[in-house]
Amino acid sequence: MKNYSETIIIGAGAAGLFCAGQIGKAGKSVTVFDNGKKAGRKILMSGGGFCNFTNLEVLPSHYLSHNPHFVKSALARFTQWDFIAMVAAQGIAYHEKESGQLFCDNGAEDIVKMLEARCTENRVSIQLRQRIDLVEAVHNDENARFKIQSGGQTWYCKNLVIATGGLSMPALGASPFGYQIAEQFGLNVLSPRASLVPFTYRENDKFLTALSGISLPVRVTAQNGKSFSNNLLFTHRGVSGPAILQISNYWQPNESVEIDLLPADSIDEYLSQLKASSPKLQLKTALSRILPKKLVELWFERQLLQDETLANLSKVRLKNLENLIHHWQFQPNGTEGYRTAEVTMGGIDTKEISSKTMESQKVKGLYFIGEVLDVTGWLGGYNFQWAWSSAYACAVGI
Ligand code: FDA
Repeated sequence: MKNYSETIIIGAGAAGLFCAGQIGKAGKSVTVFDNGKKAGRKILMSGGGFCNFTNLEVLPSHYLSHNPHFVKSALARFTQWDFIAMVAAQGIAYHEKESGQLFCDNGAEDIVKMLEARCTENRVSIQLRQRIDLVEAVHNDENARFKIQSGGQTWYCKNLVIATGGLSMPALGASPFGYQIAEQFGLNVLSPRASLVPFTYRENDKFLTALSGISLPVRVTAQNGKSFSNNLLFTHRGVSGPAILQISNYWQPNESVEIDLLPADSIDEYLSQLKASSPKLQLKTALSRILPKKLVELWFERQLLQDETLANLSKVRLKNLENLIHHWQFQPNGTEGYRTAEVTMGGIDTKEISSKTMESQKVKGLYFIGEVLDVTGWLGGYNFQWAWSSAYACAVGI
């Protein structure tokens, strides 16, 4: 049986659902296919179930891409304020958590319901549990440029939008489908890797698993000089928390990151002042007052430090202490990979995609939106904003 939809979108995630609603609103026919039994599964999981759907401050500099100017046009045409206005018009309650990050008050399903309602209102057909068996170009027919086979059915469409996201969280339906389609049509794919992801310990650092569950504010700096101040969480596999997830976007395999465990203070000044008032105080006691006690104990247990009175602390030992606290050189073994990563860095090379419409410059009618592209945002609502902005640009282009 042959079916026709002017536009077919593959992937009913953040970008695919939003794009479909917008195209439908313009009165055009659109069908969405997804391999999952539910639409918007990552949205439902996001932001700890409360979806950090955008940020009050969104700048091109919050994104990484081999083509850094690519995001500018789409972000300017559909901004965070446009999405916030949609959320507000829907009566969805939200709040700012920190650093401009906006979360739903009641739950991420509010965002999925809003996107699905826009699809329903605009007669978008969403076909779930669909495996795409074949995508082919059809020549000499401007209205049916692509043939798609799914579930024993054949579909034709004029515009094909790939919105299948990245590789993170395979349990939520992630697949390399978008990259395979790009390659099939001769587009370049920049090697994907897991990002916004926890680091794992090398053998030498595994003693730190004793600190699992402890969180503290740090400043972490990558070898390229990029740094973030936020919390670090020790886990039983390595280090995580927002500071680590952010820096993972800038970390390259085999590099180390520098961690300042006391970013708001100087250990030198703190100990000098304390030494003046309490020269007989033990170093261990002094450190335990400003750092997690378990971490301090571990340093002494592992003989990274020696206990002594502050009066006896030599300049050399103070220097060592400074290095340990303010300049900890942490070399990850690697990352936890796609199993826990929030995003995939790399993807479809944007040099071959129109930044105005997200259409391939090589293949007319073939569009890529959202995370499948080589665009990765910081932690903080930026990846969803990219999904909304790129989806909007595509919908207007169609
Ligand atoms: P998305 O992954 O949303 O959708 C892709 C869709 O394509 C899925 O429905 C999938 O099932 C489908 N699909 C894949 N392969 C297919 C195939 N072969 N056939 C058919 N369908 C296929 N970002 C943010 O800004 N704020 C946040 O709070 C969070 N939180 C967060 C938590 C967790 C746990 C994760 C994993 C990620 C986040 N993110 C985030 C990132 C954010 O979820 C992500 O960047 C967007 O969902 C990307 O939107 P896309 O529509 O591009 O892909």
